[in-house]
Amino acid sequence: MGFPEIRMRRLRSSATMRRLVRETTVSVDDLVYPLFVRPGEGLKEPIPSMTGCFHLSPDLVADEAAVVADLGIPAVLLFGLPEKKDEQGSDAWLESGAVQMAIRAIKQRVPQLLVVTDVCLCAYTDTGHCGLIRDNRLDNDATCELLAKMALSHAQAGADIVAPSDMMDGRIGVMRQALEKNGFPHVAIMSYAAKFASAFYGPFRDAAESAPSAALVEAGLGDRKTYQMDPANAREAVREIALDIEEGADMVMVKPALSFLDIIQRARQQFDLPLAAYNVSGEYMMLHAAADAGLLDREAAMMEVLTSIKRAGADILITYHAKAAAARLR
Ligand code: PBG
Repeated sequence: MGFPEIRMRRLRSSATMRRLVRETTVSVDDLVYPLFVRPGEGLKEPIPSMTGCFHLSPDLVADEAAVVADLGIPAVLLFGLPEKKDEQGSDAWLESGAVQMAIRAIKQRVPQLLVVTDVCLCAYTDTGHCGLIRDNRLDNDATCELLAKMALSHAQAGADIVAPSDMMDGRIGVMRQALEKNGFPHVAIMSYAAKFASAFYGPFRDAAESAPSAALVEAGLGDRKTYQMDPANAREAVREIALDIEEGADMVMVKPALSFLDIIQRARQQFDLPLAAYNVSGEYMMLHAAADAGLLDREAAMMEVLTSIKRAGADILITYHAKAAAARLR
């Protein structure tokens, strides 16, 4: 049988009909909202590179977290900036660090809101790299120990989920053991398992002040390509994800989302863990820039993007659009 008995348009005939046959829906329950914390008090400064995003001090992050929770969003993802940067990134595991204070403030204010923390050293090291540079090389194993220390300090402050975004080999196992040994068996690990060396992190690196330092460009260390993945590789992404699962990840992530929808789809088909996708800063600002130029309908484009990531197979959508999307979904 074919046309005219079969007419695909019958199922598109009204908004209600479309609603009935819709295969993919984005829910507020899927969303995670990233926040940027910096030391200080009473501080709320717009981030120039990222529309609608702010640098917040720990006290005001708690206010923002309350707004996020009111919108029904289940989780926030915290990124920190340090007071000072050094070789090791030692502000990253300070008990009095901005992230650690923010976790405590949020947990006091809105205890039911899940707090996820980014675990990575790039905002804390003076090199701007995600780990420790020794003899012009990133020392993988020493970095794992530092990351475990950072994750542990987040757990001690009350984080529900730690999310390592550094892409060192073996860090999930080292971190899982540190959490088990120190009394945090309940803290989950969301691994940035397949994170690509993407050109779409630009606005974030301005926001987190975490671009590799200019001095290192000459030494051939001006990018993150020795640890983040080559965007050309899909089979390698499957290996990365499988290893993180073996090491004890509770959830895995693909990042960025839009140029990697095929990776999300493959991950969904091959693994049964909750799968997150990170709709990164460059993807977010590309949409805003086009909308600002009058080229796109901002909200329609936003919902199409989020629906596409979900359709590809992601369960969890980490996105700077989360508040706007939640408001619209209500
Ligand atoms: C830290 C980190 C980055 C992002 C999240 N965690 C930047 C990077 O790897 O350079 C990017 C997030 C975004 O662009 O929205 N390693």
